[in-house]
Amino acid sequence: MKRVAILLSGGGSNMVALVRSMTGDHPARPCLVGSNDPEAGGLRRAAELGVPTVAIDHRPFKGDRPGFEAALTAALEEAAPDIVALAGFMRILTPGFVDRWAGRLLNIHPSLLPKYRGLDTHARAIAAGDTEAGCTVHEVTAALDDGPILGQARVPILPEDTPAALAARVLVQEHRLYPLVLRRFAEGRRDRIDL
Ligand code: GAR
Repeated sequence: MKRVAILLSGGGSNMVALVRSMTGDHPARPCLVGSNDPEAGGLRRAAELGVPTVAIDHRPFKGDRPGFEAALTAALEEAAPDIVALAGFMRILTPGFVDRWAGRLLNIHPSLLPKYRGLDTHARAIAAGDTEAGCTVHEVTAALDDGPILGQARVPILPEDTPAALAARVLVQEHRLYPLVLRRFAEGRRDRIDL
């Protein structure tokens, strides 16, 4: 059975989708949910789901990203995950951290990569006049929102869309895509899926 750690910074709706998916004949189980924000709603939701949680507050490490990541790595090592899934984890990771977990580090990003790396993806897609948006699950490499794409899901952008309305439509697809990709990844599959 593969062990999955999930890192988040916010409400954790993707974490909930991932944790709920890991039952029955699924080849993985959640071993830890971690956050850089002790107040993150996702930590409470994880505890309610019976998953061990850890908070490594990034604020005392201001100006010391490697120090923050060393503390995070120590917590992860204790949980011994085979896979680390970033699910709305809003801290940029150094190459040192990425190397430590290379080949087992996944991320979900709310755009059709390689378009719109970084923040405000939905507002940027609307401003560009795009007719579709979506989300991407990819392996994490040292470059921001880069790395081999494992899956994408697409949604239309409607004429009256606001960034919030579009984000909500994309999030529904995130909750479909990420569990599917995680399961395949845990089975050793790296081929790309498109929804
Ligand atoms: C999701 O939309 C995820 O794709 C995005 O944050 C949201 C987290 O929501 N991630 C990023 O922007 C990463 N750069 P959640 O906490 O409800 O899963």
